[in-house]
Amino acid sequence: MKTRIAVLVSGGGTNLQALLDAEAAGSIPSGEIALVVSNNPGAYALERAKNAGVPAAVISKKECGSQAAFEARLQGILELDAIDMVILAGFMCILTENFTKKWPNRILNIHPSLIPAFCGEGFYGLHVHEAALARGVKVTGATVHFVNEIPDGGPILLQKAVEVLPGDTPETLQRRVMEQAEWILLPQAAQLVAKQIAESRRL
Ligand code: GAR
Repeated sequence: MKTRIAVLVSGGGTNLQALLDAEAAGSIPSGEIALVVSNNPGAYALERAKNAGVPAAVISKKECGSQAAFEARLQGILELDAIDMVILAGFMCILTENFTKKWPNRILNIHPSLIPAFCGEGFYGLHVHEAALARGVKVTGATVHFVNEIPDGGPILLQKAVEVLPGDTPETLQRRVMEQAEWILLPQAAQLVAKQIAESRRL
């Protein structure tokens, strides 16, 4: 049986697209993307899920009223769909220990820098690349890591370096990091962990 994967998103969803494309190409043979969850009803990632025929749900943090209610709702949806593994793909909400402890080594996150550089609270999306350019680093990249209660602090699974070029803006750097690292690493990591979970189920 394939590992059932939920992908959590907030925005454009290019990393979700990379996962959907990899699955369609047969590169995630141990897993299936069974569900997409967005905290943002306007996320373009929801269109991508629809186009791929993957069920999607929206959980608005505001409507839930509290972090605890938000996480309880999320947990309920994941359980209802018999999800085995969660991938945060541009999901811009912090998850507390109350949630992450229920999914030990079962949640992956993609972060657009070489952790431990430019990570932790406040470092998300374009801000990460702004900080890298402000510091003047010549090499940056992306990291896939397991998620625990420390923001961007869980064990590292995969990393890939990307060159910073003269004249880069946060936008050009973000695009290069996505193309050369994120969209390659995330499907690889998804397959790695989906395979481990599928095998552990067979034991
Ligand atoms: C990606 O660059 C992802 O690594 C980053 O947000 C972007 C989402 O793009 N995530 C974080 O910064 C998490 N801390 P996408 O919606 O097109 O995949």
